[in-house]
Amino acid sequence: EQPGATLSAAKLSIEKTTSPKTKIAPEKLVFGHTFTDHMLQVKWDATDGWLDPKIVPYQNLSLDPATCVFHYAFECFEGMKAYRDAEGKVRMFRPDKNMERMKKTAARICLPTFDTDELVKLIGKLVALDSNWIPSSRGYSLYLRPTMIGTQASLGVGPPSSALLYVIMSPVGPYYPTGFKAVRLEATDYAIRAWPGGVGDKKLGANYAPGILPQRMAASRGFQQNLWLFGEEGYVTEVGTMNAFFVFQNGAKKELVTAPIDGTILEGVTRDSILALARERLDPAEWDISERKFTIKEVADRAKAGTLLEAFGSGTAAVVSPIKEIDWHGEAIHVPLQDGKETGVIAETMADWMAEIQYGQKEHPWSYVIE
Ligand code: COI
Repeated sequence: EQPGATLSAAKLSIEKTTSPKTKIAPEKLVFGHTFTDHMLQVKWDATDGWLDPKIVPYQNLSLDPATCVFHYAFECFEGMKAYRDAEGKVRMFRPDKNMERMKKTAARICLPTFDTDELVKLIGKLVALDSNWIPSSRGYSLYLRPTMIGTQASLGVGPPSSALLYVIMSPVGPYYPTGFKAVRLEATDYAIRAWPGGVGDKKLGANYAPGILPQRMAASRGFQQNLWLFGEEGYVTEVGTMNAFFVFQNGAKKELVTAPIDGTILEGVTRDSILALARERLDPAEWDISERKFTIKEVADRAKAGTLLEAFGSGTAAVVSPIKEIDWHGEAIHVPLQDGKETGVIAETMADWMAEIQYGQKEHPWSYVIE
């Protein structure tokens, strides 16, 4: 338990901008390039605990060059989205799940924890204030980026005695402007994203920079993303910055499979949602929904045998991202798509089911209405 005050939404103060920014047309949005008028800031220190939350105009941070975030990567973040429904109501998708994950991630790097309900309320107030920034058509949303950094300005390596929690927001369009576009992957075993006992299951900024060089290497060979493998067996773990799903045929039954939460997999909220919807809505007489280890060799063998039906990534940013080919040491593993489409049928179904909930076409407990 931390000493000092707890995080409290009741103590929020709001300073509105006097010079609102000019908005750009939704179709011109590039992911994460445009930010709304305001941000949330809450400071923490080891003696007083959480100070009063503030919504202020979007602004630069001023930090001492010795600040521990710059040297020892005391940083964690979340990615979540707010949507505008057909009636104009604003909805966040499962914000409680993201806040629980952020709390676990913060604790792993000795940043302060917090009451997750209070942070959800605070983010709701920020979203409501800037709700005129939320585009409304399908594929468009407001991407929310809760972030926490250690702010102690000294070079000794230890738990930060001060921290800053902030939330910025970016209106975004579809990840792929042309709709679904299936990607080609390079199965990557020359770099390891995560390992047992490591921190690859946490949403730490430090997990993302090391993925860029392998991604660039794959790109130079014509592949959009890495399919991350682990161990001599070549277990399939994740794809790019997303969780990975495969669909296999096993005799008369189909299997939707993704790697288990074993410390090497990010506990994706979209992953969890897809598994829950599949278990609830796909006929168990026809489907097995599995969280199990599987290898790239199994995928390659199944492609040859005709029992690899589909593959896709899942994440907050793209929601669902179909896969059409995987290169494994020069062997091209072809993943079927529907005739004339850039997606398989399950990826398409999952994207539709998620959108129905996110855009409030069907009431659902995962949709958190703000206003
Ligand atoms: C995701 O939402 O899939 C991500 O991990 C995205 C990201 C921009 C870090």
